[in-house]
Amino acid sequence: MRQVYLNGQYLPETEAKVSIFDRGFVFGDAVYEVTAVLEGKLIDFAGHLARLHRSLSELDMPFSMDDASLLAVHRELLSLNQVDEGLVYLQVTRGAADRDFLFPAADTPNTIVLFTQKKKFSDKTPEQLAMRVITLEDQRWLRCDIKTVQLLYSSMAKNIAKKAGADDAWLVRDGLITEGSSSNAYIVTADGAIVTRGISNLILSGITRAAVLECARELGLRLEERAFDVAEAKAAKEAFITSATTFVSPVVQIDDAAIGDGKPGPVAARLREIYLARSRQAAI
Ligand code: PDD
Repeated sequence: MRQVYLNGQYLPETEAKVSIFDRGFVFGDAVYEVTAVLEGKLIDFAGHLARLHRSLSELDMPFSMDDASLLAVHRELLSLNQVDEGLVYLQVTRGAADRDFLFPAADTPNTIVLFTQKKKFSDKTPEQLAMRVITLEDQRWLRCDIKTVQLLYSSMAKNIAKKAGADDAWLVRDGLITEGSSSNAYIVTADGAIVTRGISNLILSGITRAAVLECARELGLRLEERAFDVAEAKAAKEAFITSATTFVSPVVQIDDAAIGDGKPGPVAARLREIYLARSRQAAI
């Protein structure tokens, strides 16, 4: 049985229990990170930790576990569960307290949970990765930069996409694409520029996004961090997404429009290849 981590203990998954008063459960008062694992090692771990601290600090959530211990727990779980490829999920809540909209005392202990999931995602062909997306109104709150567990709209969006026969949704606010339901969104213009929304409160600052943009810079590709609308996306030469669980994956259809020739494009394929090679090398 899978071993998970809860508040200092490694336990079989069926024995890990949290309070019904946990603010993560009652208020969605919790933040999380998902780190990919390749060859038993963590990808972009420092970036995920840095974003975790930012999310905690934006929510004024006290947290006392140090980075070395967090890394040790990630590694121990990978070893206990013999995960070669997959992910580690980390969630930190503000802890359990009587239901009150006001935050509890600063010394209320966090609930800290980690678990692993085995998943094979590195050896897929571009055709297997190809995604069709629909565009949907972005109905999330205005702090999408904080990685909270309040994922209901993202979850609804994916379900709406699935019902419509698509793989995922790209979200649109004021006519402009923000990001995917659980990924960052990109297009490649006719003249070869990579366009993705700039960092703001309207999107999550993807750890994969930062690494992939760095790869693109090193390849000498032109980058434009700016807003783009649905019409520009549909007319693009290529489209793709990035996230910790999809790396770089091509988007071949947006609503009813085929992107480019309707097949996975070369820019996304090259970026995926380079990102994966770099990540394997730098993984810890
Ligand atoms: N989601 N935007 C949103 C809304 C996301 O939920 C995610 C990641 C990203 C990409 O961030 P990163 O490259 O750091 O994974 C962008 C994770 C994978 C999830 O919720 O499972």
